[in-house]
Formats: sequence, structure tokens, C-alpha cells
Amino acid sequence: MEDSVKKENGTDRKNRIVIPGCGGFIGSHILRRLLTKTEFFVTGIDRSSSRITDLLGHSRLNFIEADIYSDSENLRNIISTSSVVISLAALCNPSLYTSIPVEVIESNFVKPYQLIQLCSENNVWLIHFSTCEVYGKTKAALFSDGSCNGLRDSGAFNEDTSQMIVGPVSAQRWCYAVAKQLYERALFAWGSENRLKYTIIRPFNFIGPDMDYIPGIDGEGTPRVLACFMKALLTKTPLKLVDGGMSRRSFTYIDDAVDAIVAVLKHPDASRNQIFNIGNPANELSIKELAHLMISIYKDLYGAGENGLTVENVSSREFYGAGYEDCDRRIPDISNALRQLGWHPETNLEIALRKTVQAYVNKYSGF
Ligand code: NAD
Ligand code: UGA
Repeated sequence: MEDSVKKENGTDRKNRIVIPGCGGFIGSHILRRLLTKTEFFVTGIDRSSSRITDLLGHSRLNFIEADIYSDSENLRNIISTSSVVISLAALCNPSLYTSIPVEVIESNFVKPYQLIQLCSENNVWLIHFSTCEVYGKTKAALFSDGSCNGLRDSGAFNEDTSQMIVGPVSAQRWCYAVAKQLYERALFAWGSENRLKYTIIRPFNFIGPDMDYIPGIDGEGTPRVLACFMKALLTKTPLKLVDGGMSRRSFTYIDDAVDAIVAVLKHPDASRNQIFNIGNPANELSIKELAHLMISIYKDLYGAGENGLTVENVSSREFYGAGYEDCDRRIPDISNALRQLGWHPETNLEIALRKTVQAYVNKYSGF
């Protein structure tokens, strides 16, 4: 990694943010907002710049195309001249949890551990992207009749009160959730010993333009559900419902999510050593319902084409291989973000999907 700290005259440390993973789905949206609507100087690090080519010449961006862990001295140098790190770089695609679990654990716990140490040493605020997957399954999932066997379960995951329920070690799907959870526990421990200022973000299924890739066009493998369904719509092949598409998710539009990060940056004291669920509880539905909603939006915008648009069932073993288990349902309790940051999401699912479907069609229609 080349030496990278630009010496902008008069830019002091408090205006500098470092974003590892700034070229990813969430990172590219945060970066664009910070460069267009704030005065921050950003040092962005990512292995890929394909989503941010339009931003590369920006006078307040210093972009380094590299593995962030390839040059620890330069990483130390960059962090020590900044005041905030927004940590996004990770492997976070469920198909990888069962196919390359060692890399998943390394990228979500082992390697980013040094960011904790570097931020602590340099008194830098670490805003870390964790995941709603740390909650695992609902209590209801433990009982086949969904009764919770008398346990109380409001249905919404709360940062302070919800249990974290995952499957056995052999169910490798949980390696990501548990690596993220251990990282959160490390942040909490460093914070509780007054050795670190941190904020934990738990995203609930963010969606929007530039999420993942379309297999065979700009990536290989199996992306997250939104891109899988977009590939099916674009190629007029059936949308695959894993185990019938009965699992439920709360989808959050990326612009609302970026609003939340900007609110965190604006409220450093209220965000100190806090955990925030960032999600949209009003946008909850089953994956089967999502498939049908996307089909209906696509038909409304572009027509159905000759083959029509359909769904088909596939088993999780066939789709993800051995070791896959699913999170049955995830609804965020977002009262902490509302209380501390005044943040709440505004985009309903239909609008979020319309904008996203249109963005994918515009991006991929030439291929
Ligand atoms: P993404 O895969 O689109 O982006 C991750 C980016 O990190 C990629 O551009 C990748 O190239 C980069 N990266 C990974 N390892 C790197 C390394 N060693 N050096 C340099 N760059 C590296 O993922 P995303 O959806 O933007 O997610 C970002 C973060 O948010 C992740 O930590 C993820 O676990 C978390 N998260 C995302 C969601 C969501 O809804 N998208 C939900 C929960 C958690
Ligand atoms: C995701 C990923 O773990 C992370 O990106 C992230 O931390 C987190 O959840 C999040 O986005 O908040 P998950 O929601 O299971 O996990 O990932 P998706 O690939 O988006 O799958 C959602 C559901 O759709 C699952 O039930 C999956 O089995 C199903 N699915 C996926 C299908 O039915 N068909 C497909 O083609 C793909």
C-alpha cells in the first residue's frame, strides 16, 4: 500500500475520517454522502473502486486501492492522523459462510482486531459495522409450534434485552454472526475499561442501488437475496425461494441507513459506546412475499416478457450446501436510535424496491 496521507493545508485531524471498505455497497453510499453533503476529508481504503470511480478525483478523498491489512505501518499512520474510523471491510455474503468460513472469521474478527488497538492507541472513535445476525434466531424458532414455550417474545430485537440464539458449531452459517458478536464483545470490553470510544451499528438488511453484483456480469458466486432476485428478473429465469422463502426480513433503504450514520457523526456524545439497531420494522415481509413484490414491480415498470416471471422452490442444502441454517425472522427495535439520534427510517419497501429495480436495470441493461 502506497503512502497515502494527503497533506491538505489547514485540515486538522478532527475533520478526517478513515473508511475501510469505502468501495462496497454501504461504503460507497456513505462516501458519496460525506463528500457531497459534509466537509469531512476521507481516506478510503478498499480492494475495489468500481462503485466509486466518479468520486476518485474528489479533492477531499484520498483513496487507496489495497487490502487494508497489507501495510500495518501505513494503516497506523492513516489512523493516527484521523479522528474517526468507519469500519466496513468484511466478507458478509451468506454463501461464503459455508464455503470459506475461515476467511469469513478472519475478515470479521481476527484482522479487524488491530483496528481496535490502533484506535485505542490514537484516541480515535471507532464506528463499527456489525450485523443484525448477532441476534441469530428468534426464541419462537426453537419451538416447532412457534409458541416460545411460554417465553415472552415481543418479536423485535432489542440491543439491551434480546438473547442471541445460534445453532451448533457444525452449522457453519453462524460463523459470521459469532465472529461479529465476539468483535462486539471485544469493543464493549475495551470501552468498559475506558480504553476505546466506539459505536456499534447493527444493520438490518440494507438494500439499494449497487448492492452486490450480478453473477456472470460483474461477479461470480451467489450474492445476497436482492441481487439474486435481480439476476432472475433481468435474465427472465425463476426467482429461487430457499426452503420455500418462509424466512422473514426487515429491509432498509440505503439512503435511510446513510442518514443514520450521518446522525451518529453529528451526535458523538450520544453515540459514545452505544449499540444501534438500524433497520425498518415497517418493511418486514417473507422472502416469498419479497419475490412476488419484486416481480410485480418489475412487470409494472418493464412488462413480463415472453417467459413470464415466476418463482421456484429450492432446498437450502442445494442452494448453499451443508452447514446452512437460516435466521427465521428479524425485526429491529429502533427506539435507541430514535432516542439518541432522532433517527427513524422514512422509505417504505415499495418505494425502496422501485428505486432499486430501476437502478439495476439502468446499470445492467447494456450487458
Ligand atoms: P460489501 O461486500 O458490499 O462491502 C465490503 C467492502 O469491503 C468491499 O468493497 C470489499 O472489497 C471491501 N473489503 C473487504 N475486505 C477488505 C480488505 N481486507 N481490504 C480492503 N477492502 C476490503 O458489503 P456491505 O453490504 O457494504 O457491508 C459492509 C459492512 O456492513 C460489513 O462489515 C457487513 O458485515 C456489514 N453489514 C452489512 C449489511 C447490509 O445490509 N448490507 C447488513 C449487516 C451488516
Ligand atoms: C445477511 C448477510 O449475512 C449479511 O449481509 C448481513 O450481515 C445481514 O444479513 C443483513 O443484510 O442485515 P441474510 O439476510 O440471510 O443475511 O442474507 P440474504 O442473502 O439477503 O438472504 C435473505 C433470505 O433470502 C434468506 O432466507 C435466504 O435463504 C433467502 N434467499 C436468498 C432466497 O430465498 N433466494 C435467493 O436467491 C437468495
